[in-house]
Amino acid sequence: MPIAWSPSSPSRVVHANNLEVLPQLPDAAFTLIYLDPPFNTGRKQNRQTTTSVRAPASPVSVALGADAAGIITGFKGQRYERIKGDLLGYDDQFEDYWAFLEPRLIEAWRLLSDDGTLYLHLDYREAHYAKVLLDALFGRDCFLNELIWAYDYGAKSKNRWPTKHDTILVYVKNPARYYFDSTTVDREPYMAPGLVTPEKVAKGKLPTDVWWHTIVSPTGKEKTGYPTQKPVGILRRMIQASSREGDWVLDFFAGSGTTGAVAAALGRRFVLVDQNPESIQVMRTRFALLPAVEFLPGGFEPAVPEPAAPEPAQPALFDFGADRPGARLGA
Ligand SMILES: C[S@@+](CC[C@H](N)C(=O)[O-])C[C@H]1O[C@@H](n2cnc3c(N)ncnc32)[C@H](O)[C@@H]1O
Repeated sequence: MPIAWSPSSPSRVVHANNLEVLPQLPDAAFTLIYLDPPFNTGRKQNRQTTTSVRAPASPVSVALGADAAGIITGFKGQRYERIKGDLLGYDDQFEDYWAFLEPRLIEAWRLLSDDGTLYLHLDYREAHYAKVLLDALFGRDCFLNELIWAYDYGAKSKNRWPTKHDTILVYVKNPARYYFDSTTVDREPYMAPGLVTPEKVAKGKLPTDVWWHTIVSPTGKEKTGYPTQKPVGILRRMIQASSREGDWVLDFFAGSGTTGAVAAALGRRFVLVDQNPESIQVMRTRFALLPAVEFLPGGFEPAVPEPAAPEPAQPALFDFGADRPGARLGA
């Protein structure tokens, strides 16, 4: 589907397989890319939509030095294919998962601006394999952080430590030029407020690379009904720190559109892509108050938003402020 996007387009939601859309977007157009791909949950993923679509040769494939046999060297010249071969041989299911992710990550790299940052949201089953492969593909010097999003919700295993965190790997396009401003980020309460001055307590502390934050509450105002929806508070930190007002943000596994809701609330522009019609319906409702957002292809009307009802208190460990900009948009 042709999407004819340029940096002067309005923010946009595209209903499509992302691998069909990404090659149409221009190089270096996005300051921040957040990706929350479906997890490799131990079952074989449904690859019908992906095996039939091959990413066309892009400047990046050329830059990567893919030869006639498709052997990729890695952006920084490492032996990416050899590392990949060694690693994937141990785990068929991860191999399948990586075959799905790899062409999309290569496109993500091409689409990042020189000062841009990629946030790749994974769970503990993928994170370590993915880190080794991304180091080889993108260059270890481009690795910025491993963020741990820790939560505490749901059933707890009795025969091992309950797994209650996700991992977000952060890579920058250019380690000498990337944009990062932690002074604009929502701060968090001190763990031992008695040990610091009242002024510091009032200001809160700078978050570290471990982010304690509740999941989207099943009864809270953020809930859209989309099963894998991520919390606004998590996206806010990334978008605040790694983009400026007016910058373009991309999420091509958009789901409920949390990235777009937060980007709009913070004055950024966005392109979101998802292939699931339910995701598009949820985003139409979520963005109904943002008239400038374009949906491609056009079609059904957005659901009329419910009048605001009083919200039950959220069990958030951090309160990011109900009156902050964009709160009414669920962002
Ligand atoms: C884990 S969810 C993302 C949730 C999102 N971060 C949020 O806050 O709602 C992953 C999304 O990727 C979408 N997806 C999976 N494969 C896709 C593909 N090939 N093209 C476009 N979207 C895809 C799924 O439909 C799903 O909505």
